[in-house]
Amino acid sequence: MSDILVHTEAGIRTITLNRVDKKNSITAAMYGAMADALTSAVDDASVRVVLFQGHETVFSAGNDIGDFLNQPPAGMDSPVFRFLRGIATFPKPLLAAVCGPAVGVGTTLLFHCDLVYAGDNAAFSMPFVNLGLCPEAASSLLVPQMLGYHRAAEALLLGEPFMAEAALEVGLVNRVVPPTEANGIAQGVARKLAAKPLSSLIETKRLMKKGQTELVLATMGEEGASFGRMLREPAAKEAFTAFMERRKPDFSAL
Ligand code: COA
Repeated sequence: MSDILVHTEAGIRTITLNRVDKKNSITAAMYGAMADALTSAVDDASVRVVLFQGHETVFSAGNDIGDFLNQPPAGMDSPVFRFLRGIATFPKPLLAAVCGPAVGVGTTLLFHCDLVYAGDNAAFSMPFVNLGLCPEAASSLLVPQMLGYHRAAEALLLGEPFMAEAALEVGLVNRVVPPTEANGIAQGVARKLAAKPLSSLIETKRLMKKGQTELVLATMGEEGASFGRMLREPAAKEAFTAFMERRKPDFSAL
């Protein structure tokens, strides 16, 4: 079974993260598959809405840490950057259903979604600093915008997780629901959207995002350059090795 499932029905393209044994951590191949599913949806009239979902126990543990060590993304044409550009520029409604851990890109991708439904077990975290890294997916711009600076500092500098109710309070999610119902509720909302005139949806989203997309893409580029450099530096190497060895990282000499 593929690690990314793509299913299109009744105007809804559902992209399911399906690597539950590895907590839906995302490999380069998975980013590539998701980027392709988004790119082909842009001009495909049979796709009116795209929905990301995971499992009721886990949305995503973020980037695959083995991949970070063995094949770090090289350049802006790499699958991860194709995926990030895809979510930042996708013209049709983008939805997500999130349950359980949503780590790193598992959280930052949500800032590019139009509607987000969370299970009450959802735990959002962006532990980039704890991994010797810096924000990605334009989260250095979008997290302070949505959370306010001090809560953003808690999330990004301390890397502290926050739960579904806190995400609801700051507006990152639209509704908190029982985990077993999250995917179904998001599908129901996707069906509502798919029944509306697509041209109105596209124009409304474009107008709401007007002026922002260029800044988002520029931020992604700047973050990407730093992130790529930091991936190869000692702090990140120590963090990834510690994760693999199931120990706490030791940054005392760094
Ligand atoms: N990359 C690669 N493998 C990962 C992974 C990741 N990001 N996250 C989890 N896994 C793997 C584990 O290595 C483990 O594999 P194994 O069964 O072969 O040993 C399996 O998934 C289960 O993970 P485990 O840590 O035992 O699950 P948990 O329920 O105790 O904890 C998380 C879940 C998500 C809290 C924890 O796995 C975690 O913190 N993962 C890393 C998150 C991270 O830092 N991501 C990078 C963000 S930039």
